[in-house]
Amino acid sequence: MPVQVNGVILMNIEEWEEYRYVEFGINTFIAQMEESSLKKMVEHVCNTGGKRIRPIILLLSSEVCSGSYHHSLDAALAIEMMHSASLIHDDLLDQGLVRRNLPSAPEKFGPSRALLCGDYLIAKSIEFISPYGENVVGDLGNAGMDMAEGEVLDLSFNKNNLGESNYFECIYKKTASLFAISASIGAHTGGADETLAGCFNFFGKSLGTAYQIVDDLLEFLEVVEGKESKFTSETLPHVYMKNMSKQEAIQKSIDAVKLHVNAAKETLLTFKACPARDKLFQITDYITVNMLENV
Ligand code: IPE
Ligand code: IPE
Ligand code: MG
Repeated sequence: MPVQVNGVILMNIEEWEEYRYVEFGINTFIAQMEESSLKKMVEHVCNTGGKRIRPIILLLSSEVCSGSYHHSLDAALAIEMMHSASLIHDDLLDQGLVRRNLPSAPEKFGPSRALLCGDYLIAKSIEFISPYGENVVGDLGNAGMDMAEGEVLDLSFNKNNLGESNYFECIYKKTASLFAISASIGAHTGGADETLAGCFNFFGKSLGTAYQIVDDLLEFLEVVEGKESKFTSETLPHVYMKNMSKQEAIQKSIDAVKLHVNAAKETLLTFKACPARDKLFQITDYITVNMLENV
């Protein structure tokens, strides 16, 4: 099955060797778990069609810096485990009912068990990342804290108290932070110095920001497929609609996506030209401007 978002096929990403590597790593981890109800939950959460965008970004960033997938795979898995845990916790917060076209973890297993599965995956993420050393472990810890802060900000917003800067602060923290370190940890494991890793971080942050605006915009336009929740986050067009018409607000949000996509691409252009960099360009379009083609 090709990976799809809202009917847009993410072309051949599941045929990429980075995708297969990540799938192999996840399958190996699950196969090593003892048979238990926890294993069934982990299978449901980790093995049901996620796009694997963040770990693929990590592996490609590593390759651009001349690193090997073999050396970077566990770091990529750590990122995917942190992401998977955040989805469970997000579905607890938003009362998510459907994710990836299936019942969400809280819906299928109940909130208490789902919560514990999220805890388990965060602990697994720490185990996967620990061999990479203090700096990388610290980066993952900081991103995890940012994500929690972002979700708390999200909870505290209501329709009247959310301005543009609050919105951006929230999405930087809850989403862009993990994209940012996916790219910079990949650069680190590939052997990059601090300056270059910082540029990768900026690339990931720009892409993650654009991605969350798109995700919110699709929700605003009610064209989301395969995902359903009782509560939804505030969206950028909604913020802009306080001062302009709906159509203008949608256009201004699309302009914001393009701004961040361009920043991501301009940063990519400064990296060494190679097939891995080409794939980072492709991913950047797939999860942002391509998603908006049908709206
Ligand atoms: C969903 O992330 C949460 C957001 C930041 C919008 P993804 O869209 O990467 O989720 P999966 O893993 O592919 O389902
Ligand atoms: C993003 O929030 C979720 C995380 C960063 C964990 P959303 O609530 O917008 O994400 P979806 O739409 O449920 O995937
Ligand atoms: Mg949600």
